[in-house]
Amino acid sequence: MSIQKPKGTQDLLPGVVEKWQYIEEKARDVCRRFNYKEIRTPIFENTELFQRGVGETTDIVEKEMYTFPDKGDRNMTLRPEGTAGVVRAYVENKLYGEPDITKLYYIGPMFRYEQPQAGRYRQFHQFGIEAIGSVDPSLDAEVIAMGYLFYKELGLQGVKVEINSVGNPSCRAVYREALQTFFAPVKDKLCKDCQSRYDRNPMRILDCKVDTQYGAGAPSILDFLDEECSTHFAKVQRHLTDMGIEYVINPRMVRGLDYYTHTAFEYKAAGIGAIDTISGGGRYNGLVGTIGGSALDQPGVGFGLGLERVLLVLEAQGVQVPGVRPLDVYLIGMGETAENEVARLLFALRSGGLKAEKDYLSRKMKAQMKSADRFAAKFTVIVGEDELSRGTAMVKTMATGEQEEIELSRLVEALKAKLAP
Ligand code: HAM
Repeated sequence: MSIQKPKGTQDLLPGVVEKWQYIEEKARDVCRRFNYKEIRTPIFENTELFQRGVGETTDIVEKEMYTFPDKGDRNMTLRPEGTAGVVRAYVENKLYGEPDITKLYYIGPMFRYEQPQAGRYRQFHQFGIEAIGSVDPSLDAEVIAMGYLFYKELGLQGVKVEINSVGNPSCRAVYREALQTFFAPVKDKLCKDCQSRYDRNPMRILDCKVDTQYGAGAPSILDFLDEECSTHFAKVQRHLTDMGIEYVINPRMVRGLDYYTHTAFEYKAAGIGAIDTISGGGRYNGLVGTIGGSALDQPGVGFGLGLERVLLVLEAQGVQVPGVRPLDVYLIGMGETAENEVARLLFALRSGGLKAEKDYLSRKMKAQMKSADRFAAKFTVIVGEDELSRGTAMVKTMATGEQEEIELSRLVEALKAKLAP
């Protein structure tokens, strides 16, 4: 049997890959305007980075990581997310030495051993940003606004922003106790995962897909925020309102990673099946210290947007995105001398910036014309022995069927002029 791709992965073939390029270009364009610079970190890291960074009690670290010993018996993990690696790179390369805060973005594959379904893969791709070095709530709002603008400019309709505050470690400790008190009477009825979450991370019970009936009436984190946290949260909301970004507060939103403090947010979209969260992020004051040592601690905030989910929404909403760019020119040579000229001309056209192609299968004129059609070429250029003897080529405008003889010496310039908008 032939070998097939691993479960939960995709081949991104021509025809679809152009959509990815378009989405990635939009991401880069938004980052440029918001003054974020690209960073590329390794796809595998020491496992300890994610254990410490993402958190031991998260599903990601407990169940979903691709972890393996390398040949030197080092414990390695394919990155399940981007934040931990970026923070490690920030610390290791002393990016905090810059006079300003550090604003970085990344686009690339992430790996989680999850049950594949629509919008959920084992190798997926994120566009993420991380802004490190400021506690300013306007930065939280900037990050939320950036994701919002990215989706909007791609043409996604009805993307909703949900926000919450998960407080700081001290108000969370009090909230945690309140949750344990609330869930204590039903503890034995909770699913196995939640029974262990009860002691380790009771907030995650609110996020459980199995135990939904027990969460009703649970205390809200928002009632446990101290003054610093509620002021921060109020300021983020004020900035979002001023920017005209609609949001709803979802006090039950629990993100699946342990590093969040203060603002947590998610983007949601309807009509794409069971998964309606298309991405999320939040603030992570304390993570830089966890990874780099407390002396280095710097606050941070960012998001990770799943690109497969962008595509899912684009397709569900029938948004047209550019496909393969058609050919500018298809070149046909009739006869051996003409074929030599075609090879030379093809290179001249391509060097001149045109997208050009020819036949490589020695097919008849008719089959070559068909190829020109299939590539949706704007012009077909035919070089026969007769034209060659006159130093010309026949140029056919495919849209109109109009034909014109043009001197070879000015062919490239003439075609460029015809193609100019
Ligand atoms: P996350 O919520 O774990 O956050 O993932 C962010 C997004 O990645 C998800 O909302 C989804 O779009 C996509 N995603 C996650 N898992 C899968 C999967 N198995 N298949 C397809 N898409 C998936 C983070 O990763 C944080 N690092 C975000 C962040 C950055 N927070 C602060 N800075």
